[in-house]
Amino acid sequence: MPQLDQTLAPVLDTLVRYAAGDILPLHTPGHKRGRFAPPRLKELWGEAVWRLDLPSMTATDNLQHPQGCLIEAQALAAELFGADATNFLTGGSSQAVSAMLLTAAPPGSTVLMPRNVHRSVVNALALSGAVPKFLPHGVLADCGALGVDAATIAHALDTEANVSAVFLTRPSYYGLARDLGEVVKLCRNRNVLLLVDEAHGAHLGMCPAGGPESALAAGADLVAQSWHKTLGSLVGSAVLHRGRNSRVDPFRLQSALNLLHSTSASFLLLASLDAVRQRLAHDGREIFARTVAEVRELAAAINALSGLRVLSAENDPRLAAHRCDPLRMVVSVRETGWNGYDVERLIRTEFSIEDEMADWFNVVLVLGPGDEPVARERFLAAMQHVSAKPRAADAQQELASQWLQPPIPTLALTPREAALATSEAVSLTKSAGRVCAETVAFYPPGIPFLMPGERITADIISASQSLRGAGAYCHAMDESLGTIRVVR
Ligand SMILES: Cc1ncc(COP(=O)(O)O)c(C=O)c1O
Repeated sequence: MPQLDQTLAPVLDTLVRYAAGDILPLHTPGHKRGRFAPPRLKELWGEAVWRLDLPSMTATDNLQHPQGCLIEAQALAAELFGADATNFLTGGSSQAVSAMLLTAAPPGSTVLMPRNVHRSVVNALALSGAVPKFLPHGVLADCGALGVDAATIAHALDTEANVSAVFLTRPSYYGLARDLGEVVKLCRNRNVLLLVDEAHGAHLGMCPAGGPESALAAGADLVAQSWHKTLGSLVGSAVLHRGRNSRVDPFRLQSALNLLHSTSASFLLLASLDAVRQRLAHDGREIFARTVAEVRELAAAINALSGLRVLSAENDPRLAAHRCDPLRMVVSVRETGWNGYDVERLIRTEFSIEDEMADWFNVVLVLGPGDEPVARERFLAAMQHVSAKPRAADAQQELASQWLQPPIPTLALTPREAALATSEAVSLTKSAGRVCAETVAFYPPGIPFLMPGERITADIISASQSLRGAGAYCHAMDESLGTIRVVR
């Protein structure tokens, strides 16, 4: 039962109070309540946003050393989400991931993780100096990584030295989440911290039973959530929760956060987190229950179309021990002969729909309470179009399984050593045998193909080239992948 008054929004109320006062702002920010704002932005954004855009100051609070409205707002969020403590962030889950590793994984220690981590984890490893040990995991031939099972983690804990933490991405970009109970017990018994990147699953705790349990409810030590992705706060706003009974030292956590926070964290973003929590406390569960029901209806309508199938743990034996995020819709187009990239282009150009991502076999949607009925209707019409126009199977589809689990290169240097080393650009085709100095990831989902410190192999080169050739968007210093940065 809530003990705190969840109808309050301390950060937002503080901004509104200051903005309403007749105060002459002889302080930053330089737009001075919008009077010196670019006229075009003022016209677009209106007056209010400028008046509320305040810095850390006596009248507000400071994310590096919260004492006032931020303490209250974070405590309200912790209570609602079932955390021991919650930290507001303005640098997304990317910042949360860095804070988790800086807190939990000392330089040189080993962090056990599957390969399907987001590229922000690579950055976090470069910052912390920890070394990844990639765990084998199952792969669905048509949509990538399954969760790592507890037996695999137990084996790694028995055989790897100096393990500080287990790091899991859950749910995956495809909405898959393995039950966490056994892993929690293992980590506690072996005195290893459990860190969960729940960037895409902030809403899980708001959804009706049947979907994946939230990592906080399961007992993780630290949990990163991008509220901006699914809960309605402004882009870039996120939280890092410290779980109930977490073994993480709160002071160590705050010190790590302070290495990463700007001294001028945007109060617009912070207020958006506060307002989201206030709203969710009021009727979040009802709102998400309604949305989950609407998404189920859409899934049933798509499943009724020839050649199309929505990924679901309920009727897919390959997903035993997993559950699916009820708001992540993964539509397999494989049996229609289309590839996901072509469907993505079709729905963009012919139906004015942007999906979250596509791969060879699927289009992936992030659905939520903000979707109007017309969005579901239009997507269904697009799927009817695809279903009615089957194609000869794309020969390249057979290549796809290669990149769903590309071979994991060996680590020649730690990510930190390689990321900070002097590097040079060489032709990708001639880079086999060199040590990579950058992160190469196909985005989304942004899982690293290569990370700093890894030795480049011929397999990786050809898998990257075929993905690039298929139109997947590559994040790398040279997006064309003509060249790659390697350690000099
Ligand atoms: C699994 C995962 N973790 C972390 C992040 C980083 O989140 P943010 O964009 O909020 O920094 C992302 C972003 O897409 C992600 O997919």
